Amino acid sequence: MGILTDTYTLNTGAKIPRIGFGTWQIPNGNEAYTSTAFALKSGYRHIDTARVYGNEESVGKAIADSGIAREDIFLTTKLPADIKTYEGVLDAFETSLATLGVNYVDLYLIHAPWPWTDRGGNYTEGNIAAWKAMEEIYKSGRAKAIGVSNFSVSDIQAILDNGTIVPAANQIKFFIGNTEKDNVTEFCQAHNILIEAYSPLATGRILDKPQVQKIADKYDKTVAQISIRYTLQRGTVTLPKSTHEEYILQNANVDFEIDAEDMAYLDSLKDLVDLTQPNIRK
Ligand code: A2P
Repeated sequence: MGILTDTYTLNTGAKIPRIGFGTWQIPNGNEAYTSTAFALKSGYRHIDTARVYGNEESVGKAIADSGIAREDIFLTTKLPADIKTYEGVLDAFETSLATLGVNYVDLYLIHAPWPWTDRGGNYTEGNIAAWKAMEEIYKSGRAKAIGVSNFSVSDIQAILDNGTIVPAANQIKFFIGNTEKDNVTEFCQAHNILIEAYSPLATGRILDKPQVQKIADKYDKTVAQISIRYTLQRGTVTLPKSTHEEYILQNANVDFEIDAEDMAYLDSLKDLVDLTQPNIRK
């Protein structure tokens, strides 16, 4: 089988396809429906959404209409970042299942350790309460795995110290030049918590970087393909997002090897992208 069905094994024992289709910033309705449907038709078997993306309805419909057996698709959604109570998590999960039109998800993540309106705030108690509910959901079988997103080492440590289940994954921003914050990657990998790379193309901001173009030319690949391949070779699940058929196909055409020397060069490109700068793609 091709790279779209290559998997890692989560700490639950479940398989997770190494490439997932990212749906952040794809509006609900036609765009989310057609791009998810096209990804599935093209062989993607892993779809990543979130309650806060607002597109669970269209993503779920595309899955239902795909004709692919539910158990052959790995589906992730996420708990809104501002919900930090036990009951609130149970409610939000029901809403996501109903909106997606499924009776289980493969992975349910706490979207962030703090509400987006209070980035960096201390919500340790709330995260511990939320994790208790996540554990209940996992035990009920309606989320086959549970995890976190945007968590730092100390955020995860609080879960490890107070919970009974180790998160299966931590989904973080991860792209060339932005991989080492807080050593969270090493910490997670040491604890058998899979890193999932969101924004592997730095939301498009990496595409005009000559340093990566140079490597792309050498391998006769695009900057997008080098960037995605880089995240895979760093042992992460990668979640490229696109609404264009050409790109959806291209992003899965990454069955090649970047050699060790070029990986080291890409590793050395610290702070390649400034996410506060305007995005040529938007
Ligand atoms: P679009 O969605 O218009 O197709 P990230 O995965 O880091 O969030 O990056 C997503 C951004 O990169 C989107 O703007 C997307 O464009 C663009 N993009 C995705 N794949 C490619 C590609 N293969 N070539 C060029 N741009 C791409």
